[in-house]
Amino acid sequence: MKLSVINSNNILWKTNQLFIVLADKNNLSPFLKKWQNFTGNHINQIIENSNFSFAFSQSILLRSSKTSLMLLGHGSKQRSNLDYEKLGGILFSKIDKLEFKKITILCNLKISGKKESLILSKLLFGFKLKSYSFLKYKEKKKEDLLKIENINIVAKEKKTLLPLLNLNNDIISGIFFSKDLTFEPPNFLTPVEFVNQITSLKEFGIEIEVLNEKQMNDLGMYALLGVGQGSSKKSYLVIMKWNGKPSSKNNMAFVGKGVCFDSGGLSLKTSRGMIDMKEDMGGAGIVVGAMKAIALQKLKKNVIGVVGLVENMPSSNAQRPGDIVKSMSGKTIEILNTDAEGRLVLADALYYTIKNFKPDFVIDLATLTGAIISALGKERAGLFSNDENLSQTIFQIGEKIENLVWKMPMDKIYGQNMLSKIADLKNIGSVAGSSIQAAAFLENFVGKTPWAHLDVAGVVWCDQKSDTHSGGATGWGVRLLFEIAKNKYRF
Ligand code: BES
Ligand code: ZN
Ligand code: ZN
Repeated sequence: MKLSVINSNNILWKTNQLFIVLADKNNLSPFLKKWQNFTGNHINQIIENSNFSFAFSQSILLRSSKTSLMLLGHGSKQRSNLDYEKLGGILFSKIDKLEFKKITILCNLKISGKKESLILSKLLFGFKLKSYSFLKYKEKKKEDLLKIENINIVAKEKKTLLPLLNLNNDIISGIFFSKDLTFEPPNFLTPVEFVNQITSLKEFGIEIEVLNEKQMNDLGMYALLGVGQGSSKKSYLVIMKWNGKPSSKNNMAFVGKGVCFDSGGLSLKTSRGMIDMKEDMGGAGIVVGAMKAIALQKLKKNVIGVVGLVENMPSSNAQRPGDIVKSMSGKTIEILNTDAEGRLVLADALYYTIKNFKPDFVIDLATLTGAIISALGKERAGLFSNDENLSQTIFQIGEKIENLVWKMPMDKIYGQNMLSKIADLKNIGSVAGSSIQAAAFLENFVGKTPWAHLDVAGVVWCDQKSDTHSGGATGWGVRLLFEIAKNKYRF
């Protein structure tokens, strides 16, 4: 889809295309009159004979042999940015079924050029989000299925619209990258292939460092290494560095769980429980997608992204329930369930990140527990934090962009369930409150650094469609991290 911004004098009347006009009842502008003169159709009459009332997201399609027109209702009420994003998604669904190669979108509202640019950019954000599909393994490719080739945006103020469209593109690139990774099957996206995918971000100026098993062994990362031990696939830790403000020592860190497939290990999952386990790298996918968006936008911040990439498999070499491993922090962990592996990966990834980069704050993202889905469903991620300020920031940004989270308790008592009789910690507690106990386990590895843990098990994948999502990997969290990086701390 090629996007061009034009002004109203440059509208190409002669071509067969679909004009989409966002309009309310009151001011059918000269544009509509022009269209009327051009096609000979009498819009008012057609509208009067229909049940189109200009209500928000309602539409009417006026087909003509010369060029066609879709009126998209705005209604008289003021709308939020999110409303416009959703409207963009709804618009995509409406016209995806039609055969138009060229479309022209314009606003017929009495608003300033600045406001118009904002509305158009939000509309296009939702439109693009909804256009995503993962067709790599289908015979019919995206190019065959997507009919729209050109989109013209008619804008009063090109100069305010263009940066907003650039921002859209960069965030969407990050979201789509993240979706692609989560959609990929686990026989393709093995840990080493995940490393290759991340390495492609070098071209955007991200520094990439890859630790292999030998290097992790030398660092004492036996908690992480123990998880990958049963798999024939090698484990990796990848560090991504975006140095957007070299003059500053401050930085923030995002850490992701990248279990490319979670069979449960010797504590094997049921076949039902295993079906979705390619998505167990979703936390790492969010971090990688956000790093891409951050680099594309060249944010003037220093951001570290770290992902632990492993495969959790049963084999004669696999970690056993009963094993005790030493983490990089020096704390020993009794493994009582090899399916509680994400926290083991994060224990070393978090400790490594904090020790090496001393970030101002760290956020980890992990598809950590099935219990968070029971608690919060597919709507919100669980938020656990030792820092009220950080947790408020995440919550508020999340509300704005609908990457929703919900704060969970972190009372000290939960941590006591994670103390082992014969090691410093054990990797499972009791069944009740297991998401909170998992977070309490992680807290042992972050020291005093402001830290938040997002349990994203419910939100990285959603089969249900929404206005801006067509089912599958959601891309949840990419924009959340991007906005946090952009807005938190003015260093
Ligand atoms: N990857 C799973 C959690 C998960 C479940 C993610 C469903 C997405 C959808 C995690 O490694 C796991 O198996 N957790 C166990 C922990 C338990 C053994 C304490 C769980 O949630 O059952
Ligand atoms: Zn597991
Ligand atoms: Zn897992």
